Amino acid sequence: MTALTETFTLPNGVTIPQVGFGTWQVPDGPVAEGAVAAALKAGYRHIDTAWQYGNEASVGRAVRASGIARKDIFVTSKLPAHAKTYADAMNAFQESFAKLDLDYIDMYLIHAPWPWDDFGADYRKQNREVWRALEDIYATGKVRAIGISNFNARDQEDLYAHCTIKPMALQLQYYIGFTEDANVAAARKEGLLVEGFSPLATGFLTNNTDVAAIAAHYNATVAQVAIRYCLQNKVLPLPKAVNPAHITENAQLDFTISDEDMQTLDQLVDTAPGEEHNLY
Ligand SMILES: NC(=O)c1ccc[n+]([C@@H]2O[C@H](COP(=O)([O-])OP(=O)(O)OC[C@H]3O[C@@H](n4cnc5c(N)ncnc54)[C@H](OP(=O)(O)O)[C@@H]3O)[C@@H](O)[C@H]2O)c1
Repeated sequence: MTALTETFTLPNGVTIPQVGFGTWQVPDGPVAEGAVAAALKAGYRHIDTAWQYGNEASVGRAVRASGIARKDIFVTSKLPAHAKTYADAMNAFQESFAKLDLDYIDMYLIHAPWPWDDFGADYRKQNREVWRALEDIYATGKVRAIGISNFNARDQEDLYAHCTIKPMALQLQYYIGFTEDANVAAARKEGLLVEGFSPLATGFLTNNTDVAAIAAHYNATVAQVAIRYCLQNKVLPLPKAVNPAHITENAQLDFTISDEDMQTLDQLVDTAPGEEHNLY
């Protein structure tokens, strides 16, 4: 077991490798296929994609071509944020399922509580209907787990009150200095696993000198400390990289940040000016 293959366990007992490889803004075709292939070669066993990223076909091809048993790779995809009816959710799922072409999807998330062009609006009622579609998809066995992303506490609580099967994971933005504590707490109260997207603040964190000072204690890089920070807070990090050196660097996580340094990191604010948030 390495830091990449150790697992968290979802509420339904499914295990999930504790670091996922992000693929947002990775162009479909050779770039995505190459990045996912390099990640699998470096030891990642968990890939995070989405309908929205437009690269599911490449992710699927790279997984199939890897020579690694399907059961040893965990693949997450996401229902597009604009799909807010039962029928639209079913259709979008079929599209992702066909593009990935992997027999099953390990985890399927509602990408956001509102369509991107109606950011922050109240779609609680529609999300109940969409969640019913995810429950029905889960019942077919085509996905091994279902969950949500970008839901704040209010939208989470409405879903928890109206679902039959509780979401198993919440994916939200999480990095040193930006940890969405109230949203994390709402999910953990209900037993969900929390996944952290943009653990490097989409790259804006990597030049942070305060984090670099801590990283020096471990002969590590800012990116490595940022990923470990998530893990030590029991949040599953999803670092993205296309640069092969970054992919390899982010796989080297066999060190432990001391409690004292974790406290220092917890107190940092405004660590990544320029990074955007989905807060509403
Ligand atoms: N659910 C959602 O709404 C949502 C939203 C955002 C993200 N996500 C997921 O979370 C994943 C990660 O978030 P993210 O894409 O925002 O980015 P991120 O992982 O926070 O940062 C990626 C950026 O950091 C650079 N980088 C990676 N490793 C580095 C290193 N060791 N040293 C220096 N720079 C490094 C990458 O460069 P190169 O690519 O050039 O290597 C890229 O520019 C996404 O890909 C996606 O899967 C989900």
